[in-house]
Parts: sequence; structure tokens; C-alpha cells
Amino acid sequence: MNLDQYIQLIKAGEIVAFPTETVYGLGADAWNPSAIQKVFETKGRPADNPLIVHISNQDQVFDFVEKIPERAKKLMDAFWPGPLTIVLQKKPKVLDLITAGLDTVAIRMPDHPIAKSFIAQTGPLVAPSANRSGRPSPTKAEHVRADFGAKFPVIDGGATEVGLESTVVDSSGEQIVILRPGKIGLSDLEPVLGEKVAIASKADSEVPKSPGQKYSHYKPQAAVYYGEIDSIMRENLYLVQTDTIGKEKNVINYKGDLIRFSKELYDRFRQADLEGYNSIFIENIDAFSKKAPAYYAALLNRIEKACSNK
Ligand code: TXA
Ligand code: MG
Repeated sequence: MNLDQYIQLIKAGEIVAFPTETVYGLGADAWNPSAIQKVFETKGRPADNPLIVHISNQDQVFDFVEKIPERAKKLMDAFWPGPLTIVLQKKPKVLDLITAGLDTVAIRMPDHPIAKSFIAQTGPLVAPSANRSGRPSPTKAEHVRADFGAKFPVIDGGATEVGLESTVVDSSGEQIVILRPGKIGLSDLEPVLGEKVAIASKADSEVPKSPGQKYSHYKPQAAVYYGEIDSIMRENLYLVQTDTIGKEKNVINYKGDLIRFSKELYDRFRQADLEGYNSIFIENIDAFSKKAPAYYAALLNRIEKACSNK
């Protein structure tokens, strides 16, 4: 199929997976309730977990939001298109299906040539990550097909660049709060805003500010362990950062490159399952926190969610 045919599918109320710079999204027309319902059904997603609206130009924000707070406007100008999702007070007409009944709506403008061109022609799309609920987010078209079947409509844009989902910030209060860490971190946001940014505590993110954070996402079938590694066994996969252990086939060394590690993490999880590993051991990444602070925070957040020993 070509892009036009995928656009026609969306217009006909169907759902289509497409690449963004973070992960693949499962797109549906943001104004079509039955299409959005299909997204929840296809993913097996709990109805109380709201969706992100994806747009292709800033004016479209006003279809969903009455007024953009000054802080939010600064973030849009600085980081859109890009991997930043902004939670704003919603207009009453925004479908409750999208917001799970919250009075806020999450919006982002992805920075990916296919996503940009697709959304420019379909209009705003809701798009959760295009995985079955509880599976790692898809970073390749084949991951989407693995979850939803070989015939599922997915626009293939190759491997996604960032590999972890967007940073989600709440701009509906007095201070910007990071609800979900991602590539854009504190040290990117604070200079643009000229003020401090808060990070939602785990307790806060249980209810109701960032509903998605309470679900155990990103879990491969293999058990995931995080910490120090001293010996290796063949039936396990080891994702390491230093040369403390051997160079066997089942040891993948990222040498402290947290950017590449982020890009490949979910693919490694899925590969480990396909190859039948019992466990995945991830070596502690603390030593590299200063080198790439935003990736560090985002990785720890995802690893914790996938972990069996946390
Ligand atoms: O990078 C991404 O954000 C990807 C790509 C496809 O754009 N999308 C994505 O969507 O990760 P999803 O549905 O897997 O995650 C959306 C997150 C969830 O944690 C959800 O709870 C949160 O955004 N969210 C959505 N609307 C919200 C709202 N009104 N208030 C607070 N959190 C919200
Ligand atoms: Mg998701």
C-alpha cells in the first residue's frame, strides 16, 4: 500500500500504525469515536488510560484547547516538532474516550517525515504506542506485525530514532511537571522556561495525573533483572555497559552509549523472547548518568517497569 491508501483507511474510520521519532503509534482519527474504540480493543488497553493527540501544525492545538498557557507555548516553540507531549486543559468537545474523562488532553507534534506528512493529510490522530498492552513499545514495523498480525496496516519507516516514548509534561498547573521521562529532560526544559521543573513522584503518578504510569508496561516474557553482573550463563541475555564480563554471543556491550541503548532496548527485549532466553540482565547504568541525564532518567523508568527484582 502507498501513503494515500493509508490516509484513506484513516478517513474510513480504520486504524493504521505509523512511525514517529520515538516509537510506532497506532493512529485513529481524533474525532471518530468508533475508530478510537478500535484502538482500545486492538491494544487491549484499559479505558482509564488516556491517549495522546498527534498534530502536524501548532494551530491544530486550538481544536482541542481554549488557551495555551505561556509556559506551554514556550515549550511548543522550542521542542515541536519533537518528542515532547504536553498536557493541557481541554475543550469540552474533546472526546472523553481520548482523555479517559480527565479535564486535560495530552498533545504532541512528532518529528518524523512520514508522521508529519501522514498527519498533515489525515488531520489530528490519537496514537498510543502500537503494541499490545503490556508488551514493549514497537520500534520497528515488524514489532507491530508481531503483535497485531502480518496483515495489519503499518507504514514501514524502518527503526525509530529515539526508541523510548516521548517525555510527557503537565502544563495545567503552576509549575511544569514531568509525568513520564524521555529524551527531553530537565536540563533541556529548564533553560527554555527560565524556571524549575518538577518531576512527578511515583505516588503522584499512580492516580490520576499520569494514568499510564501505573500500568506495568514494557514487560518482555523473559524475566528482567537490573544491577551488578559478575558471572554469565548461556540461557540469559546480558545488556552491559562496561567490559566487566566476557564477549560471548549473549553479551551485548553498549559501552556507556545510553543513546544507542535507548534506541535498541525494546528490540532487545523482543529479540530475547524470540530467541527463548530465560532472563535478561541489565548492568547498572549509574556511571553514565551525567553523560546523558535525560536518557538515563528515561531508561531507568522503563527498566524499572520491565524489572522482576524491583
Ligand atoms: O512517544 C510517544 O509518546 C508515543 C508515540 C506513538 O507518539 N506514544 C505513546 O502513547 O507513548 P501511549 O499511549 O503509549 O502513552 C501515553 C502516555 C500514558 O502514560 C498516558 O497515561 C499519558 O500519556 N497521558 C495521556 N493523556 C494524559 C493526560 N490527559 N494527563 C496525563 N497523562 C496523560
Ligand atoms: Mg504505550
